[in-house]
Amino acid sequence: MESKLTTSEESPMNIPAHIAIIMDGNGRWAQKRGLPRLAGHRAGTENLREIIKACVEFGIHYLTIYAFSTENWGRPADEVDGLMHILEEVIDQELDELNEQGVQLVHIGRLERLDPVLQEKVEKSIYLTKHNKKLTVCIAWNYGGRDEIVCAIKRIIDDGLKAEEVCDDVVSNYLFTKGIPDPDLIIRTSGEMRISNFLIWQSAYAEWYITPTLWPDFNRDELQKAIINYGQRERRYGLVIPCQDE
Ligand code: FPP
Repeated sequence: MESKLTTSEESPMNIPAHIAIIMDGNGRWAQKRGLPRLAGHRAGTENLREIIKACVEFGIHYLTIYAFSTENWGRPADEVDGLMHILEEVIDQELDELNEQGVQLVHIGRLERLDPVLQEKVEKSIYLTKHNKKLTVCIAWNYGGRDEIVCAIKRIIDDGLKAEEVCDDVVSNYLFTKGIPDPDLIIRTSGEMRISNFLIWQSAYAEWYITPTLWPDFNRDELQKAIINYGQRERRYGLVIPCQDE
């Protein structure tokens, strides 16, 4: 059920249409409990289920999650394999419920390096949910912002575009995120203050929210706090907002 977020004066709040999240801190969460890193990723996956529900509840239209970066291939093989296995399990076990919630799944990044069976499962889940309208969950998997821009440049050249034809909108349409609005709010958990190759083109005017909370502990109430904080900001896009009394 959708719940309208309100300010303390009960007026409707400015809600971000698109929230993107760098789900950081799974490893530290596990380490604090003497558990293997994968246990942290499993706890993070459980949490993701709650956050998707909360996004539906708060009326968010797009949620992009940074789940596996182009750099993450450099992690120990058992962690990489474990993360791939988690993706497969999520598709096998959660797809029906996501479908029932009206969630459309989208992928950004490159599927070609994944096991062919997993590639097929991802493609099938995108196909099966393509008509859902409640919330689009965009999974960044084998995703890197620089890789995305390099791919876009190559395709622009392959398509024979002339220099004078290339503009912001054209570049946006060659990115993996074609058709998805830029994120309004980017949340990074675990306190790190860096972009880590995530949506580097699309985040040009995004608002950032950094919290020390580790991803597995970032619950519905924390998300609500981030959305309320966003609602209190003034987005200027490089412009000057005229004074009220002018
Ligand atoms: C960063 O924490 C987290 C990741 C690299 C993986 C996140 C992936 C999931 C939660 C699985 C999501 C699943 C699906 C299907 C979308 P970290 O390991 O870098 O944490 P640390 O900085 O504390 O070590």
